[in-house]
Amino acid sequence: YLSLGLTLLGGYLLGSIPFGLIATRLGGAGDIRQIGSGNIGATNVLRSGRKDLAAITLLGDAGKGVVAVLLARWLSHDNPFIVALAGGAAFTGHLFPVWLKFKGGKGVATFYGVLLAACWPAGLLAAVTWLAVAALFRISSLAALVAAALAAPFALATDQDAAFLGLCLFMAVLIFIRHKDNIGRLLTGQEPRIGKKKTAEA
Ligand code: G3P
Repeated sequence: YLSLGLTLLGGYLLGSIPFGLIATRLGGAGDIRQIGSGNIGATNVLRSGRKDLAAITLLGDAGKGVVAVLLARWLSHDNPFIVALAGGAAFTGHLFPVWLKFKGGKGVATFYGVLLAACWPAGLLAAVTWLAVAALFRISSLAALVAAALAAPFALATDQDAAFLGLCLFMAVLIFIRHKDNIGRLLTGQEPRIGKKKTAEA
């Protein structure tokens, strides 16, 4: 139980580091929560006009998922259940960070980090899906939603265990819930394209 608790706590704490907020603050771009969609993720950091900070955010938010999963793989000798718990905890930490009164991001970059570190073929398929949809439509949220919806099918296609499948479903459901406003804008054709600035939501 101790290692289970440490896995959950460690994963959560790693995931709760808000790279978008830290990068924009240290980088002199202000408070990202006052820009664009108000989200702390890389897509929104890009709306600040700072590609460098957006890249740092993407790498940091994905990287913390990678570190959480790799640490769990190493410490548990690749126990699929522990690995899935660590990944899920890191993802949850990004969405609900204690430091930001539990108001975190939408989880997309961390989802990729977790997937790639836990099962790179499924992660690669999801990443290619994001790139393909983003190239076609130039809408970040749409690309993320399609990739999230396909994560579980990709897990099945690459013959993964039940723990990984559960992790994919868990993250996909939370990504959809977190993109509630984006889905509304997609349905009304108002979702901004990548690179365009957008005014803050109410
Ligand atoms: O990574 C989050 C992305 O899917 C949407 O972000 O800022 O356009 O709501 P945003």
